[in-house]
Amino acid sequence: MSPWGKRDDMLVHQREPFNAEPPRTALAGYRTTPPDAFYVRNHGPIPGADPATWRLTVDGLVRHRLELSLEDLRERFDEVEVTATLQCAGNRRAGLIDVRDIPGEAPWGPGATATAHWSGVRLADVLTHAGLRPDAAHIAFAAPDVSPLADPPQPYGGSIPTGKALSPEVLLAWAMDGRPLPRIHGAPLRVIVPGWIGARSVKWLTRVTARAEPSGNYFQATAYRVLPADADPGRAGPGDGISLGPIALNCDILSPDDGARLPPGPTRLTGYALAGDDRTVARVDVSLDGGRSWAQADLDAGDEPWMWQHWHTTVNLPEGEVEVTARAWDSTGAVQPESPAHLWNPKGYVNNSWARIHLNTS
Ligand code: MTE
Repeated sequence: MSPWGKRDDMLVHQREPFNAEPPRTALAGYRTTPPDAFYVRNHGPIPGADPATWRLTVDGLVRHRLELSLEDLRERFDEVEVTATLQCAGNRRAGLIDVRDIPGEAPWGPGATATAHWSGVRLADVLTHAGLRPDAAHIAFAAPDVSPLADPPQPYGGSIPTGKALSPEVLLAWAMDGRPLPRIHGAPLRVIVPGWIGARSVKWLTRVTARAEPSGNYFQATAYRVLPADADPGRAGPGDGISLGPIALNCDILSPDDGARLPPGPTRLTGYALAGDDRTVARVDVSLDGGRSWAQADLDAGDEPWMWQHWHTTVNLPEGEVEVTARAWDSTGAVQPESPAHLWNPKGYVNNSWARIHLNTS
């Protein structure tokens, strides 16, 4: 077993703090991800909090400052469950590193994406109870894990606009798949912001602050931003680049595995697509000739709005080396871009270029 109850075959990017993703095939075939295959992304030491003494502070542009225990949250607000996919903005960075090196950033593959049932209370209900003021344009989240990666080192945090914070799918969650939230995933309480980059789903939450401006935290103001290709990330400061929020349209092929040897002939392909925020996946296409011709995959029934959309199709594999490509379209008619070279950025975020695997049938 890997640390924190994860599968033995996790690709571990860092031991301290633990950063790891499962192989792509571990995600195949599951509507929700088995907890031992759920990726882990941390920026500092993992905090431990005693649920009995832990408190959540709600302050800033609210009429009543609140100090809430877990029991208060359970007693005062309705418990809700949302099935949602988290995706890290660094998912598939390895494809960008193949274009040009990205020093200091881990080469995440396709496994920084995972889905769970999350239970807790609506952030909207807590904010309403606190008497959110009309001048509150952003809701900031703070946690105790001090990250040495931040400049200067500081606890992890971030924010989302009030419009999203008041949407019913945004949760303060204490359970994952019907069990108490594991410590590595943010116990006793974390934010879940479905449809937005994983960075905004702040773990080990201790404070929710209503503000006029976005959070000034390093991970909101300086990191998780798309810098121009010629920028020096070492010199990036607050406000530089494009701040990431809603997830960009993406997809991947989950089985067969990249590099698999298979007999030629009919082969079933499966994968996922994710449109992000209020968009939905409209279509997934698959190509065996580098995108000169495409066949439509079938979208699996039963997937819910805030979770990934699974798809499958059967293709007839020719003999030899085959590159299989997939691309998704969303409900606005947008399609994934073809090449990671067009997307390369100095911190390696948002690689949503066409998914590609290589198979060998000889
Ligand atoms: N919250 C805290 N407090 N510290 C962190 O390092 N990482 C963020 C987010 N919340 C992080 C955090 C990032 S970048 C992602 S992608 C998700 O948590 C990952 O959640 P997971 O580790 O539960 O998969």
